[in-house]
Amino acid sequence: MTIYGAEATKRTSVRGRRPEVEPRNATRPMTGPVRRTPSRGETIATMTERARISQRIAGIAESATLAVDSKAKALKAAGRPVIGFGAGEPDFATPDYVVEAAVEAARDPRNHRYTPAGGLPELKQAIADKTARDSGYAVDPAQVLVTNGGKQAVYEAFATLLDPGDEVLLPAPYWTTYPEAVRLAGGRPVEIVATESQDYLVTVEQLEAARTDRTKALLFCSPSNPTGAVYPPEQVRAIGQWALENGVWVVTDEIYEHLTYAGATAASMPVEVPELADTCVVVNGVAKTYAMTGWRVGWMIGPRDVVKAAANLQSHATSNVANVSQRAAIAAVSGDLSAVVTMREAFDRRRKTIVVMLNDIDGFVCPEPKGAFYAYPSVGDALGREIGGATPTTSAELAEVILDQAEVAVVPGEAFGTPGYLRLSYALGDDDLAEGVARIQKLLG
Ligand SMILES: Cc1ncc(COP(=O)(O)O)c(C=O)c1O
Repeated sequence: MTIYGAEATKRTSVRGRRPEVEPRNATRPMTGPVRRTPSRGETIATMTERARISQRIAGIAESATLAVDSKAKALKAAGRPVIGFGAGEPDFATPDYVVEAAVEAARDPRNHRYTPAGGLPELKQAIADKTARDSGYAVDPAQVLVTNGGKQAVYEAFATLLDPGDEVLLPAPYWTTYPEAVRLAGGRPVEIVATESQDYLVTVEQLEAARTDRTKALLFCSPSNPTGAVYPPEQVRAIGQWALENGVWVVTDEIYEHLTYAGATAASMPVEVPELADTCVVVNGVAKTYAMTGWRVGWMIGPRDVVKAAANLQSHATSNVANVSQRAAIAAVSGDLSAVVTMREAFDRRRKTIVVMLNDIDGFVCPEPKGAFYAYPSVGDALGREIGGATPTTSAELAEVILDQAEVAVVPGEAFGTPGYLRLSYALGDDDLAEGVARIQKLLG
């Protein structure tokens, strides 16, 4: 449907409407067919030229976080001593018992075949049990859809919930995939900015001010990527209550649920507001809790009709998640949480170091992150200064200067909807962390 594609490239924000996006990689005109003289053997149909890339797909921006990470890895492979703060993944190996379960599964021919598109029944049951254990949310396995990572769950949730033109309230800074997933589904992300002065937490008042009669859903993520902010339970409850009262669906991303520090806890919105369960989709996965980013197992939990519809979509898109990975995920979610306890201790130590070091840099202000493994300093006051011959005026330019001159990879706030910030993942070794931030300190004086 043409309206689907056209709507998908519109970018609306409460800070103003952005222009239509020019597809970056289309080499043909985008508006209407072009007529030319037919050559020998051509029919009228084949001579009509069209854009090579659809508007819907050409409008997607490359994942900036993956781009920074791959640039840093390429420089490293070329022998440069690059320290990468770009990656959104734990630097730990997957626990042995999980790997063993996968090895065993790979040897079993039953896992060499197609299995139900929506996930192995044993894994759905294990996810339902794990969810009741960890967040206190009691669900039936029929409410679980196993996806190819949390990323596919986000994509499918929006594809299932949105009609063209539906608005999704998107607290910013946001994880870079959310707005693209909304647009791909024909929806419009409506950004609501929460700055460091409010600890990166949006308020009910801000949400209400952005709500219109096209508002279909709110995207909620706590602990947050990229800020590390964790909403206190009473604020989760207030936002859930507001959503319930206003008929706004909530897609809540709990993928960092086990990575909280300094006494913070991750409250699950449908647990805080049980009546919301019928209009709430929970996204989660094994990637961050069990150091399993490469295994690609995530899930969504939602009302049965939504989960069934999303499973239909998945049955035509990717079918079942790789069985070996699903078997590994069963071992992970059914096991204890000792692996994440070990990781959490290391992340907490690094978190304390990085916050102190970043706040020591002139022009940087870094609130204390209470969750995930990211620090998100505001760097506005460090812009416009001369640094080794360059004068970066945006955080994107500053990130480039830092990579070129200090050989340290960080992700600019532009990737998360808030220019003027940098994201540093502290999921890297203690020594690299200290050395990397020291290099930035030295570069910026
Ligand atoms: C907030 C958030 N949600 C979901 C995901 C998806 O994780 P995966 O697709 O690896 O399971 C990520 C990964 O970076 C994330 O940061």
